[in-house]
Amino acid sequence: MWRVPYVPSPYAVVRKMLELASPVSGESVYDLGAGDGRILLEAVRRYDVKAVGFEHNPKRVRLATTNLERARVLDKAKVFKEDLFKADLTQASVVTLYLLPEMNRALLPKLLTELKPGSRIVCHDFPIPRLSPKRVEKVHLTSRVHYVYLYEL
Ligand SMILES: C[S@@+](CC[C@H](N)C(=O)[O-])C[C@H]1O[C@@H](n2cnc3c(N)ncnc32)[C@H](O)[C@@H]1O
Repeated sequence: MWRVPYVPSPYAVVRKMLELASPVSGESVYDLGAGDGRILLEAVRRYDVKAVGFEHNPKRVRLATTNLERARVLDKAKVFKEDLFKADLTQASVVTLYLLPEMNRALLPKLLTELKPGSRIVCHDFPIPRLSPKRVEKVHLTSRVHYVYLYEL
């Protein structure tokens, strides 16, 4: 079992991740390790997409679901209590990741097998080892600089 601390992406980083992925109408955004659901929420608020999250911590699944319910977007966004390594990614157009580097490395074969050509993967802070990013952007916040990596399949 991987131990990834819960550290939510700042909203400025979430917006940059989505901007780089540029989801178009009808696409699906998947957040693997969805935390409080903020990436799903921003995705459906700003783009005409569906959003799906996978999160293994039951408290955070409840929190994310409550947040999506309060925002009245449960028809467009949903979070499942599921190990992200078991998630079906075949319908994803955009995958967002804020996980540790070794987890990104372990996920790569699954991403390459299940994602369709043209899919985008956006990573916060930690790149995917052995995959060349199409773009790397910095988000300067008062606390530190955050990095966003865009990959296109
Ligand atoms: C660093 S937080 C990122 C949360 C959110 N994606 C964001 O960017 O704000 C990582 C999240 O991944 C979840 N996580 C870690 N390993 C997981 C696994 N194997 N399956 C599902 N969720 C996992 C953690 O519980 C945590 O909520």
